[in-house]
Amino acid sequence: MALLCCTMLVLLYVFGSASATVLAGMDYGGVPLWINRLLGEPSVLSLQGRMDRAWFRTNNPQACPEQCDCPIQWPTALYCDHRVLADIPDSLPERTQYLFLQGNNISSLSSLFLANITGLRWLILDHNQLQSDTLDQSVLQNQTKLRYFFANHNHLRSVPSTLPAGLKQLRLSYNQISIISPGTFQKLHNLTLLLLQGNRLQTITERDLKGLVRMNLLDLSGNLFLSVPRHLPPSVQQLYLSNNALSGLDEESFQGFLQLKYLRLSHCGLKSHDIPPQAFNISSLVELDLSNNKLTTVPTVPTSLQYLYLEANEIQGFNVTSFCREVGPLSYSRMKILRLDGNKMTYQQLPPDWVFCLRVLESIYV
Ligand SMILES: *[C@@H]1O[C@H](CO)[C@@H](O)[C@H](O)[C@H]1NC(C)=O
Ligand SMILES: *[C@@H]1O[C@H](CO)[C@@H](O)[C@H](O)[C@H]1NC(C)=O
Ligand SMILES: *[C@@H]1O[C@H](CO)[C@@H](O)[C@H](O)[C@H]1NC(C)=O
Ligand SMILES: *[C@@H]1O[C@H](CO)[C@@H](O)[C@H](O)[C@H]1NC(C)=O
Ligand SMILES: *[C@@H]1O[C@H](CO)[C@@H](O)[C@H](O)[C@H]1NC(C)=O
Ligand SMILES: *[C@@H]1O[C@H](CO)[C@@H](O)[C@H](O)[C@H]1NC(C)=O
Repeated sequence: MALLCCTMLVLLYVFGSASATVLAGMDYGGVPLWINRLLGEPSVLSLQGRMDRAWFRTNNPQACPEQCDCPIQWPTALYCDHRVLADIPDSLPERTQYLFLQGNNISSLSSLFLANITGLRWLILDHNQLQSDTLDQSVLQNQTKLRYFFANHNHLRSVPSTLPAGLKQLRLSYNQISIISPGTFQKLHNLTLLLLQGNRLQTITERDLKGLVRMNLLDLSGNLFLSVPRHLPPSVQQLYLSNNALSGLDEESFQGFLQLKYLRLSHCGLKSHDIPPQAFNISSLVELDLSNNKLTTVPTVPTSLQYLYLEANEIQGFNVTSFCREVGPLSYSRMKILRLDGNKMTYQQLPPDWVFCLRVLESIYV
């Protein structure tokens, strides 16, 4: 027994120390994974380069497909990643809850492959060759336990339309998605994270994202939007729209987002005269990224704002009214970090009264 304990400790140590390097190779859409160890969720997303595969084969009595590894620490996890597999291995064990298939050459998903699995919680298919027309739309339909479905870096042209209602995270960044079928998210009341950056979306219609009542993080960066899309879920707290060629903002662009805290609009080609003074009147806002645009003045921002990134614009001057409509004992800007580097202004240009408004500033870069 003592010997077994030691072996387990050593194993955990090896796993823990190696995790950072392996995670760096795969970004899973750029948002780190929240792992609930109490639920038995595995804390590594790949076993590649960690350990001798033969060791598992000889030491784990459970059935395990030839193309996969089945670690004894996580009996419900199946690691079949980074093996250039063209197909999903046959007869996946029924116990499978965490299925890692990233970094393969899988182009199709048939509805049969999950036929015997009822408890699937994570399905990770990043960096494959998945295509919308060879993906059986009903493949995930009956997976009521599925919480995470990742298919970043594939060739999908549309969001799979039959997603299970219990899904919490859907990561589909860097595909070729131009279509969301209306009603796709109608029942996905528990979805909190949706990554669609690096796709080909041009517009969002009223029914496209309807139903996403708990949406927290929505990444729509790097698409083909020409204006801020309407009909986004009002519950969103983190909205990323960088790298879209936006022609401008209007007063209503961010109206109705009562919980919006983090807004990213860098590399959008925005000019100062295309931003009305009310555009960022969002009293919940904490962080605003407007870097790498074509702004010539500092936009008007709410006093709640703590982080403002304006680097790499063409800003020539600075007016305290952008941050404080009035200055008084209780009316001042909560700004902590202000970046103005890479603009057309110098520190000497800051007006003498700026310290009364930006009174809790920790860092300013000019
Ligand atoms: C499902 O289980 C049945 C009976 O054990 C087996 O014949 C079939 O091949 C399995 N299907 C898959 C896709 O694993
Ligand atoms: C991946 O699959 C395609 C056909 O679907 C094939 O042409 C290609 O050679 C495969 N790549 C590798 C690395 O096996
Ligand atoms: C889902 O379950 C329904 C009802 O049990 C069944 O008719 C259907 O074939 C199942 N779909 C898949 C893809 O397994
Ligand atoms: C959504 O989450 C709630 C609370 O965690 C849970 O009770 C409910 O069953 C979930 N809905 C679905 C469709 O899984
Ligand atoms: C911001 O909007 C609120 C209503 O949400 C309004 O009362 C307030 O006057 C606006 N602030 C500015 C500076 O216009
Ligand atoms: C700052 O802006 C206010 C209101 O827009 C304006 O009245 C004032 O002249 C400006 N100050 C400077 C130094 O440009």
